[in-house]
Amino acid sequence: MQIKNKKKHKINIISSLPKHVAIIMDGNGRWATKKGKLRISGHQAGMKSAKKAIYFAKNHHLDALTLYAFSSENWNRSNKEVSSIMDLFIKTLDKEIHNLHKKNIKLQIIGDTSRFKIKLQNSINRSEKLTYNNRGLTLNIAANYGGRWDIIQVAKQLANQVKQGFLHPDQINEDIFCQYICMNELAPVDLVIRTGGEYRISNFLLWQIAYSELFFTDVLWPDFNESIFENAIHVFLKRKRKFGSSTIS
Ligand code: IPE
Ligand code: IPE
Ligand code: MG
Repeated sequence: MQIKNKKKHKINIISSLPKHVAIIMDGNGRWATKKGKLRISGHQAGMKSAKKAIYFAKNHHLDALTLYAFSSENWNRSNKEVSSIMDLFIKTLDKEIHNLHKKNIKLQIIGDTSRFKIKLQNSINRSEKLTYNNRGLTLNIAANYGGRWDIIQVAKQLANQVKQGFLHPDQINEDIFCQYICMNELAPVDLVIRTGGEYRISNFLLWQIAYSELFFTDVLWPDFNESIFENAIHVFLKRKRKFGSSTIS
C-alpha cells in the first residue's frame, strides 16, 4: 500500500498496515442540529461518509472494514428517528449493493437482524447472497449489534454443544469461544476509529477489540473523509503494539 505522509511524499508500508479497521460512526445528530436540520438529515449525510470510508478501505487493500451503523441500544430513540433510519438502510442497501458487488466487495451484516422488518431482512439476505463469493474487501455492517449480545450468542451456542454432548465444559477455552464470535473468520480488528468526540465503546465489539488500537476524533461523522482515515492510519503506524510482551511486535 502506498499512503501519503504529512509532507505528501509517498511511503511504502507493507507488513504493519491495519488489515481490519472498525469504525464507530458517531455525530450525525449533532451535525444536523448544528445546521438547524432534522437528525435524519445527519444520518443521510452520514451515508456519504460511509461510502467514502468503504472505497478508501477498498482502494487501500484492507481485508475488512466494520461499520457500527445501529446499536442494540439505539432502539431507545424516538420511533420517528428509528423508523427513518430503517427506511434509509433499505433505500441505501438497494441502491448501493450493485456498486459494491461490481467492486468485488463482500457485504455481511453482524447483529440480531431478526428484529428488523421483513422488507429489510429480505434486502439484507439478497445483498449477502449476491456478494457472498466476492474477495475484494469484506464490509461488515453492525446493525442491531451489541458486543454483549455477541458474547451471549456464543454462550448459548456453547451451552447447546455441551447439552448435546459434543463438548465438555472443561474444553471451553479462547480458541473454542472464538469459533462462534462474530467475524471469527476475518483478520483481528487492528484499529477502532470513533468519530464524534466521545471516548467510549458504546457496546461495539468487546471480545474482538481486546488488543485493538483506538483512535478518537472530534470530527462529526458526516464530516469524515479520506484524509481523516489516512491520518488515523498514520497514527496507528506510529503505535507500538506489544500484546502484553515486553518487546514490540
Ligand atoms: C450515530 O450518530 C448514528 C447512530 C447511532 C445511528 P448519532 O445519531 O448518535 O449522532 P449524535 O451522537 O446524536 O450526534
Ligand atoms: C454508538 O453511538 C452507536 C453507533 C454509532 C451506531 P451512540 O450515539 O449510540 O452512543 P452513545 O449513546 O453516545 O454511547
Ligand atoms: Mg451518538
